[in-house]
Amino acid sequence: MRRFEGQVVVITGSATGIGEATALRFAAEGARVACLDVNEAENDATAAAARTEGVEAMALACDVRSRSDQRAAFDEVTAAWGRIDVLVAGAGIYAGGPLPEIPPDRWDDIVAVNLTGVLVSNGLAAPVMIAQGRGSIVNVSSMAAKTSWPYSAEYSATKSGVIGITRSAAMELGPHGVTVNAVCAGNTLTAMVRKVAAEIGPTVGMTGDEWLEMRAGDTALNRLAQPEEIAGVVTFLASDDARYLTGQAIEVDGGLILS
Ligand SMILES: NC(=O)c1ccc[n+]([C@@H]2O[C@H](COP(=O)([O-])OP(=O)(O)OC[C@H]3O[C@@H](n4cnc5c(N)ncnc54)[C@H](O)[C@@H]3O)[C@@H](O)[C@H]2O)c1
Repeated sequence: MRRFEGQVVVITGSATGIGEATALRFAAEGARVACLDVNEAENDATAAAARTEGVEAMALACDVRSRSDQRAAFDEVTAAWGRIDVLVAGAGIYAGGPLPEIPPDRWDDIVAVNLTGVLVSNGLAAPVMIAQGRGSIVNVSSMAAKTSWPYSAEYSATKSGVIGITRSAAMELGPHGVTVNAVCAGNTLTAMVRKVAAEIGPTVGMTGDEWLEMRAGDTALNRLAQPEEIAGVVTFLASDDARYLTGQAIEVDGGLILS
C-alpha cells in the first residue's frame, strides 16, 4: 500500500535538490505532484521523472516571490485535481556575508523567497485544507535557525522566521485537522550547500570541500545528508503516522545539534 495513493501534493522548489527528491518520493508513494519552481527546465525534468512512477505530475513555472504566480499555480492545481492534501514549502536561496556589507536588495530578495514565499504558499493552501477538514503543511527551515555561524544573518533570520510561521499556522489550522511542521535540515549535499561552502570556506581559510568535510565532522553520523534523507522525514510528517504531530521544527541534522 502506497501511503499517498491519489493524494495531491504541492511542492515549491521542486526543480533540484531536496525539493526534487521530495517530489520523487511522494510520487513513488502514489501521490499526484504539482511541482512549482522558477527553474523551468529542471522542474519539467522533475515532473517527467515523477510520471515514471505511474502518477500524474504537473510542472508549473512559479516564482514564489510573486503572489500572483503562486495564486495562479495553486488555482491550476485545484482546478485540475480539486484538492491539496500536502504542501511542501521548500523553495529557498542562500545569502551570507559580513553584517556591514549586506546589500539592501540582497536582504529584500532572501526575505522575499525564504519568508514571504513560505507565508504566501501557506496562506494559499490553508483555505483549501480547511474546506477539506484535513491536510499537512511541511515548511523547509534549516539548522541555521537552531544553530548558526558567522556571516549568515540573512539566511538564519529567514529560516528562523519559517519556524515562527510554522508554529502560528499550526495553532491557526490545527482545529481544522491540518498539521503544520518544519524540517530543520542540516547540511545536505545539493547545489546550494556546495555554493555555500565555496563562499564560506575561504572566509575561514578553507576550500569549499574542506569546509564541507569540517561540517560533516561536526555531526554524530560523521557525514552530510543526502536529499533523499530529508525527503523521507518530509513524507513522514505528511503521513498519517504523524497526524498528532504539529507545530514542530524537526532537526534532521545527523546529530549536529549535539556538538
Ligand atoms: N542543502 C542544505 O544544506 C540545506 C540545509 C538546510 C535547509 N535547506 C533548505 O532546503 C531547501 C532546498 O534547498 P536545496 O539545498 O535543495 O537547494 P537547491 O538550490 O537545489 O533547491 C532550491 C530550489 O528552490 C528553487 N527556487 C529558488 N528561488 C526560487 C523562487 N524565487 N521561486 C521558486 N523556486 C525557487 C530553485 O530553483 C531550486 O529548485 C531550501 O529552502 C534551503 O534553504 C538546504
